[in-house]
This record gives sequence, C-alpha cells and structure tokens, in this order.
Amino acid sequence: MAKIIAGVGSSHVPAIGAAIDNNRTEEPYWKRVFSGFEKSKEWFTKTKPDVAIIVYNDHASAFSTDLIPTFALGAATEFPPADEGWGPRPVPVVQGHPQLASHIAQSVILDEFDLTVCNKMEVDHGMTVPMNLVMGKKNPDEHWPCPVIPLAVNVVMFPPPTGHRCLMLGKAIRRAVESYPEDLRVVIFGTGGLSHQISGPRAGLINSKWDKNFLDNLTKDPVKLSKIPHIDYMREAGAEGIEMVMWLIMRGALGDNVEEVYRFYTVPASNTAVGHIIMETRDKPKPSARKSSARKKPAASKRAVVAKSKAKAKPRRAAAAAKKVDRVRS
Ligand code: DHB
Ligand code: FE
Repeated sequence: MAKIIAGVGSSHVPAIGAAIDNNRTEEPYWKRVFSGFEKSKEWFTKTKPDVAIIVYNDHASAFSTDLIPTFALGAATEFPPADEGWGPRPVPVVQGHPQLASHIAQSVILDEFDLTVCNKMEVDHGMTVPMNLVMGKKNPDEHWPCPVIPLAVNVVMFPPPTGHRCLMLGKAIRRAVESYPEDLRVVIFGTGGLSHQISGPRAGLINSKWDKNFLDNLTKDPVKLSKIPHIDYMREAGAEGIEMVMWLIMRGALGDNVEEVYRFYTVPASNTAVGHIIMETRDKPKPSARKSSARKKPAASKRAVVAKSKAKAKPRRAAAAAKKVDRVRS
C-alpha cells in the first residue's frame, strides 16, 4: 500500500529561481533565504520518497484566461519547464508518475472531487522553485531525485477554491494514495504564499503575524484555517496571499497525526514572505492501547474525572516541552 509520509510547505518566488540559475545564491540577500533550506535538502535526501505530489499554481504559463481549471492533475510521463518570458528555466524535465496519477484521478473523481486531467502540461516557477529549494540545484542534463505528480490549483483568477474545499481534497488524495497497491512512500508539497502582494497600491505588503499564525495552525488547527474566507486572505495577506489555500491540500493529505519537524521564515524574497515547514505523519495510537487504559478508568465520580484529566495533562505538557521542533528564523 502507498503511504503519505510527510508534507512540505514552501513559498515560490520567480526571483529565487533566477538567483539559482544565475549563481547568485551566495550573495548576502539570497544566502539569508537559501540557508533556511539547507536542513530541508538534507531531510529530503535522507527521506528519499518514491514519489512527490506537488500542489502549486500555474502563473498563466500552461493555462490562461482561455482555460481556467480549478484543480488540474498532471498524469503525463513528463512535464517540461515552461517559458515564462525569458526562456525555460535551465532545470531538468520533471518526470511524472502516470500510474499513480491516474489512480489518484480515478479515486478522487469517484470520491466526488472533479479534477481536470492533464496529459500534456508545462510547469512554471510555482513548481520548479520549491523543487530546487528542497531537492537542490539541478542542471538540465541531471535528474530530479524522484518522479513528481503536479496538481495545479487556480488561485490566479477569481474564484479560487475555498480553504475548506482544499482541506477536503487533501483528505481525498490521502484516501486515493492509501488505496494504491504498490508500496510507495509519498511526500506531498503545498506551495505558494506566504503573505505578498505584487501590484497595486499595497504592493510589497507582508504580514508576519498572520504568516506565523498560519504556520502554527497548520499543525495545531487546520480546520480553523480551512474556515478563513477569501476576503481575509486578501485583506491580511495581500492579493497573492490567497496562494496559501494550497497548503491546506497538503495538510489535508497528512491525516490527523502530524509532527512539525522543521520550520523556516524570512522576509522578504522579492515581494514575498518566505515560509517553509516540514511535517511528518505519525501513526495513530493503537486502538488496543486506548481500550486497555479505558478499562482502568475509575468509577465516574466528578473527582475521579478531574484527577484523571490532571494526570493526563502532565505527560502531555512534558511531551510538548520535550518535543524539539527545529526552527530557523532570520
Ligand atoms: C513574486 C511572488 C510570486 O508568488 C509570484 O508568482 C511572482 C512574483 C514576487 O515576490 O516577486
Ligand atoms: Fe506566485
């Protein structure tokens, strides 16, 4: 059975791609950004997933106002880098995983999430920049470390999908992956954001408090995040802050038990607040363990219930203190 083992959240910014392509990553402005991804590259190399699903948005490269799919799943064998105005980025062609992609399409559509299936698609910085940040710089004659299934989400033209729809789609993707018979270890990326606005009177808007709260709730309370209306993203996180709904697809695909293992936040890269998080999925506690502790429960007097909740709270606090999230901020 295939399994989603981790989720990665990462901003994309075209200028990050340009810094990589033009060998400017050691310049102080860019080093501040790239240094936050050193541990992520180590993590990715160590984790060695068999497949990555990358939720991203196309910026009028593969699609245009002629064609605006809300959710477009790439089922092709390969996805060439798109020409975004200055030639295609010098990165390898992305290899797909048509078998798993077709399985996800079938499972998710029959689960009542209507996807557009793309058997031919070019991919832009929305996907290749987060890939570089987490998988490293790759020249066109090299290979990316694993096949990728792109999932393009419309967050460019109104109306984008709601956060709730995104969280639910993530859950459907989890069900789809878990019903695939081959033992594949799958990592899912949510990309875009965090707060930014690239045009108009509020160009340059960044809201670090909002971003931090979003990152905190991604592990703690994704359901709360899924209730945020579009207008709040626009007002608080800028016109392009709406890209953050894509992170909820990733989060929904991870299930209830996750552990944040890494976080990085820096401001700015170009116009954008760069946010990054890695969450690993954890197995649910075994039902038999829950049953045996229930058997030991004392008679349900009020005092007994209070005493039990206090006793329970202690180890939970201790566990929280012991849990060391690796965080880097600049
Ligand atoms: C920028 C950020 C984006 O997400 C994007 O798609 C284009 C530009 C920026 O910060 O410049
Ligand atoms: Fe963008």
